[in-house]
Amino acid sequence: MKMISEKDLIELISANDIQKKIEEIGAELNLFFGEEELQVVCVLRGAAMFTVDLVKQLKMPLRMEFIKVSSYGSGFASSGTVTPVDLDLADLDGKNVLIVEDIIDTGNTAKFLLDYIKNNYNPKTLKFCALVDKKCKRKVDVDADFYGFEVEDKFLVGYGLDYNGYYRNLPYIGYVKEV
Ligand code: IMP
Ligand code: MG
Repeated sequence: MKMISEKDLIELISANDIQKKIEEIGAELNLFFGEEELQVVCVLRGAAMFTVDLVKQLKMPLRMEFIKVSSYGSGFASSGTVTPVDLDLADLDGKNVLIVEDIIDTGNTAKFLLDYIKNNYNPKTLKFCALVDKKCKRKVDVDADFYGFEVEDKFLVGYGLDYNGYYRNLPYIGYVKEV
């Protein structure tokens, strides 16, 4: 696996634009859920950054859960199969549930998680929020109820998004320069 140097990355979404967008999504969520309690389900590892910044914008009483799935393997392409690593959740019956993801690509992960929660719990509402949406790559009929940025088909890193586990710590989102 080739290591990519940070100088081979091109910034696509600045740290400032990410934070501004999160304020907007937060306002949308505050409007949508009002003062009703919310159960936030963060999908590790990619959505960790987004989730912690997003919940700081939310005004309703909320609880956070963390689940972990693996779908990308290591490389640039979605594996197509979603491997549940840790789906341990509190009881979601009767709750407003918001799944928070870094990115929707093929839609396999989103579909898997929505089905998993629908099949195992009886939430009052179930919504999906993703910071980035690669709509052009969709293979499964699923959509985010709330999303930040729609992007072209590029492999992105930064702000939680990784290449072989690296670059999650970048405050911006970039893509790898073609060589
Ligand atoms: P999907 O199941 O194909 O929709 O892919 C979803 C998961 O693949 C996301 O949660 C990410 O972890 C990962 N992923 C998709 N696109 C990218 C990317 O451009 N960079 C890094 N990870 C990605
Ligand atoms: Mg992910």
